[in-house]
Amino acid sequence: MKELFRGAEAVIYEVNEKTLLKKRARKSYRIKELDEKLRKARTKNEINLLRRASSAGVCVPKVSGIEKYSFKMDYVKGELLKNYINALDEKELNCLFMKVGRGINALHGNNIIHGDLTTSNMILSNGKVFFIDFGLGSLSCKAEDKAVDLHLIKQALIAKHNRVWRKCFETIKENYNDAQVLERLKSVERRGRKKS
Ligand SMILES: Nc1ncnc2c1ncn2[C@@H]1O[C@H](COP(=O)(O)OP(=O)(O)O)[C@@H](O)[C@H]1O
Ligand SMILES: [Mg+2]
Repeated sequence: MKELFRGAEAVIYEVNEKTLLKKRARKSYRIKELDEKLRKARTKNEINLLRRASSAGVCVPKVSGIEKYSFKMDYVKGELLKNYINALDEKELNCLFMKVGRGINALHGNNIIHGDLTTSNMILSNGKVFFIDFGLGSLSCKAEDKAVDLHLIKQALIAKHNRVWRKCFETIKENYNDAQVLERLKSVERRGRKKS
């Protein structure tokens, strides 16, 4: 199998043209028992969230071939949003971030917190925005947790797409339906400013 990406937590292998394998590799600095427990729990958590998101109608890769520390999923062919955004004009950005906003809205509407909303974890494929990498995700109905998730994508946009972040984030908010969460976001942002 060809290794495609190596992150801090996991390695992505190409199984074939249509399928990838995400495997959480052993961390030798962790005690063996703890390491196995963590990798198993994180793998299971990610699979559960991907399945739940899929049932909620959010575009995510379909999961198959589940094992203790790894799972297979559809290889989503397209562009990572990170590599794509800077080339777009205002109208194209609006169209793209409408899809991002609707996707996040649907995730949160089903109490799925992504946990790592960045433009490296979204892929534009056949005109649809796919969400990947639920490794840091969780389930929660709390407005606070959803607001923190929104704050994350805002920070990611500021850091990586500084020229256009405002417009992109505005479009996300316009397509986000939970007013209570948007209100909560204001206090999350105030706290963020105090910290920095
Ligand atoms: N289903 C997928 N289809 C296409 N590319 C993927 C898929 N899953 C992961 N990738 C690619 O692998 C990279 C790392 O995967 P990810 O799940 O985000 O792992 P990490 O937890 O290490 O960030 C992504 O940024 C993306 O480029
Ligand atoms: Mg990632």
